[in-house]
Amino acid sequence: MFYVSLLLLLLLAGSDCRVFRFPFQTNEPYNIAHRGSSGEFPEESVLAYKRAIEEGADFIEADITATKDGKLICFHDLILDSVTDVHDHPEFASRKQTYVVDGVNVTGYFAVDFTLEELKSLRLIQRYPNRDQSYNGKLQIPTFEEFIAIALVSPKSERVGIYVEIKSPTFINHHVKWTEGRKFEDVFLNILKKYDYNAKYLTKEWLHKPVFIQSFDPSSLIYLHNKTSSPKILLIAPDSITSDTKQTYEEIISDDYLDYISKIVVGIGPAKEAIAPVDSNNKLLPVTDLVDKAHARGLEVHPWTFNHERNLLLPFDYHQDPYREYDMFVNTLEVDGVFTDSPESFETYRREWRIFSKRKRPYKNE
Ligand SMILES: *[C@@H]1O[C@H](CO)[C@@H](O)[C@H](O)[C@H]1NC(C)=O
Ligand SMILES: *[C@@H]1O[C@H](CO)[C@@H](O)[C@H](O)[C@H]1NC(C)=O
Repeated sequence: MFYVSLLLLLLLAGSDCRVFRFPFQTNEPYNIAHRGSSGEFPEESVLAYKRAIEEGADFIEADITATKDGKLICFHDLILDSVTDVHDHPEFASRKQTYVVDGVNVTGYFAVDFTLEELKSLRLIQRYPNRDQSYNGKLQIPTFEEFIAIALVSPKSERVGIYVEIKSPTFINHHVKWTEGRKFEDVFLNILKKYDYNAKYLTKEWLHKPVFIQSFDPSSLIYLHNKTSSPKILLIAPDSITSDTKQTYEEIISDDYLDYISKIVVGIGPAKEAIAPVDSNNKLLPVTDLVDKAHARGLEVHPWTFNHERNLLLPFDYHQDPYREYDMFVNTLEVDGVFTDSPESFETYRREWRIFSKRKRPYKNE
């Protein structure tokens, strides 16, 4: 026994990445790898996604946007400037543009002005100066289908879900010339359906191909409501106005609107601060009732984004211990999943700290 344990220990210690992971689970808060293991690798890169799977993520998360020629890619920003080497490509210098985005002039190299082939000639760059820069210039922007392929090659016993955002649909539909009367949402959905991501939440089919469709834009989720059974998540940002429907934050989190949207979505994805606000001294303020309001309507809550080093300090109440922050959200507030830049740390937290939450899916049958 001792030798077996020792061997296991050596195996774990000796390998940079985990040699096994648990099968897809629904009985604990989901580990949602925000843009992959983005704390380690350039966000939304193939390496970030593969590492997240090794580390135990239940879902790999991606922002889906579109190219000039109507191909879908995994990329967060509308402009390429912050996370690619576009500035080192003189052949594209004339592409710099200013467009109005949510009423504000934004200047940069917009992904919608580049074909997929052109975008593939660029290389990703780490967004944050205090993260590992050694992958800069080495990785390409993956397409939506290349991203799905990463999830599908993980063996059946290690099924990983995909958690995909319809990003900036108003802007994308305005700038991309779609054919055959389609729009961004249709093309997005066609790709999911091509790979059989189309089942109702928690059914056998869904457990085989776990997916969440997320958006900050309610009209995209409402549009897809009748076109796919796949579960949908409404993302919520405090102090903002939705870019499609121009709804205020207060309106989105009102009882009436949550009543309405709970017929369309299975959950909400609020910023952490919408649940546990922080004051200007970096101390926690009293928690809001948003989790309770969502749970009362059978909605799951998947807050974002947990990260331990990106550029912000943890609120001081957590004693500089990121597990305390996870614990506050998981055990005290009983959220149903977390978006984390460090799927490794959330996996370790789930294994090593007891999870007291009594919540078990599906909550609507409670
Ligand atoms: C954007 O810039 C243009 C050109 O400088 C200007 O005419 C326009 O008013 C600006 N729009 C906004 C929303 O700031
Ligand atoms: C979409 O579904 C809603 C109910 O969920 C229904 O009222 C509406 O008629 C449907 N629309 C279409 C176009 O099928």
